[in-house]
Amino acid sequence: MLKKIWWKEAVVYQIYPISFQDSDGDGKGDLQGIQSRLDYLCELGIDVIWICPVYKSPNHDNGYDISDYYAIMDEFGTMDDFDELLHKAHERGIKIMMDLVLNHTSDEHPWFTESRSSKDNPKRDYYIWRTGKNGGYPNNWESYFSGSVWKYDKLTDEYYMHLYSEHQPDLNWENEEMVGELYRMVEWWLKKGIDGFRFDAIAHIVKAEGLPDADNPDKRTWVRAYQLFSNLEQVHDLLRMLNEKVLMRYPLMTVGETSGLGPEQALDYVGDQRHELNMVFQFEHMFVDAEGQGTEKWKFKPWTLVELKQIMSRWQTVLHLEGWNANYLNNHDQPRALSRFGNDGQYRVESAKMLATFTHMLEGTPYIYQGEEIGMTNIAYPSIDDYRDVETLNYYEQQRKIGEPEEEIMAAIWRKSRDNARTPMQWNDGYAAGFTDGDPWMKMNDNYTYINAETERRNPDSIFHYYRKLIALRKQHEVIVYGEYKLLLPLDTELYVFTRMLGQEHLLVILNFFDRDPVFHWPEEDGYAAAKVEMLLSNYEPAQGENLRELKLRPYEARVYKLILK
Ligand code: GLC
Repeated sequence: MLKKIWWKEAVVYQIYPISFQDSDGDGKGDLQGIQSRLDYLCELGIDVIWICPVYKSPNHDNGYDISDYYAIMDEFGTMDDFDELLHKAHERGIKIMMDLVLNHTSDEHPWFTESRSSKDNPKRDYYIWRTGKNGGYPNNWESYFSGSVWKYDKLTDEYYMHLYSEHQPDLNWENEEMVGELYRMVEWWLKKGIDGFRFDAIAHIVKAEGLPDADNPDKRTWVRAYQLFSNLEQVHDLLRMLNEKVLMRYPLMTVGETSGLGPEQALDYVGDQRHELNMVFQFEHMFVDAEGQGTEKWKFKPWTLVELKQIMSRWQTVLHLEGWNANYLNNHDQPRALSRFGNDGQYRVESAKMLATFTHMLEGTPYIYQGEEIGMTNIAYPSIDDYRDVETLNYYEQQRKIGEPEEEIMAAIWRKSRDNARTPMQWNDGYAAGFTDGDPWMKMNDNYTYINAETERRNPDSIFHYYRKLIALRKQHEVIVYGEYKLLLPLDTELYVFTRMLGQEHLLVILNFFDRDPVFHWPEEDGYAAAKVEMLLSNYEPAQGENLRELKLRPYEARVYKLILK
């Protein structure tokens, strides 16, 4: 059933705080910095800010390793700064969605300090400890960040599990006391008046019973055993419980990070009757340019538009009226979509706008990642020393160990490293792009001299203003939010064309995904030939005397038409 609700109509802007805006000259972004940019976000027109973790953390994974859920990271400011930010955002009608990591904590969290101190410590079971098997690791699972998921701890002669870095031990959700502590903490944040949660790595909070070895036909040292720790049935029980005990009582927006599933499975999380999550971040489209769906992220495979269409269309169709999509091409874990699916050279502006049209015209809530709205691009530091991301550094080390040539490792890193998205936000063409007065924690992308927010705001034809239009259109035309999606030309290798339909109102979205100039033939079916046509948006001026029935598209051209059927 079609249910109207605010978070379906909203546009979310994601902030990676360490790289957004520094206010105190330490070279790292912070909460006061975010506050100073609220007017910019208002101008853009977004409704919700998703802030990546700002809790106390030793920062091995930029805040995704939390050592105190009730405190703010020193570098980012104080709890007063947070309260002020929340207040100032609310004053402007902007909601705040917190990023919350419930799958693991930092190894410096006091729970873990206690847990590791002895086998009979009351908090021992807050984490997942096992003895070694046959003098080796408890099982053969591979960590997301290379190597085993197990780390040996000499003191008690056992291993603890970490799906991510060794500084991020996994919590044991079978321990009810621990889960109770998490509920209390979640509620504590909700009482502050925050508006939503993005639940990090939530698909992994349950691991297969007995932690069995994964099948290993290729005889690898470590095996990507994702199916043994992702989206297992009990995850759903735990989420429903979390809702029942806490979330249900608040008017929230929730989105879960769930890798390794297709839309049918996603309905188990976001189905209207499930009472688990409002949306999930799916990963299928993020693996169109990688070997093996969901596994070999670093191994590049050329992507095809037909495959991308198939993936997106399944999500659009299966979730329609049953759940809700979270649409994104960028975030802090992915390379810049503009460099990846667009053209960050000659057609940077055109392709950035085309990709934006794509994400914003699909059914679902669109997410913008900082810098996307000004067309920021990937980075290629010549040396590994300039990289900061733990995943990237571990990968480099592992590949060196197995003797992969330096050039090949660096080529993979330039293409896929998460640091592509983490270079500091480019505000202007001055010192450090206006990000900081100090030394940026990570080297800036040199192109800030011409890619920056100030230049974008000045130019009415810029990517920034195009995003403003997209967001404004969403508020004016219900069909953009609620219309049913239908794919046209599924096998066309250059054009992505779809319609959206709400009663008599139709949208026709035409996207040329490459730098060639294909011709689009106006559809004859469904009364389209006779419909009243209004162009809502395009990233080019329409050509003089063009013929709509046979539309010759220019590189990366995007058009959105509204049709009223007779
Ligand atoms: C999620 C986050 C990522 C982090 C990981 C571990 O995938 O998005 O940035 O490294 O979880 O918390």
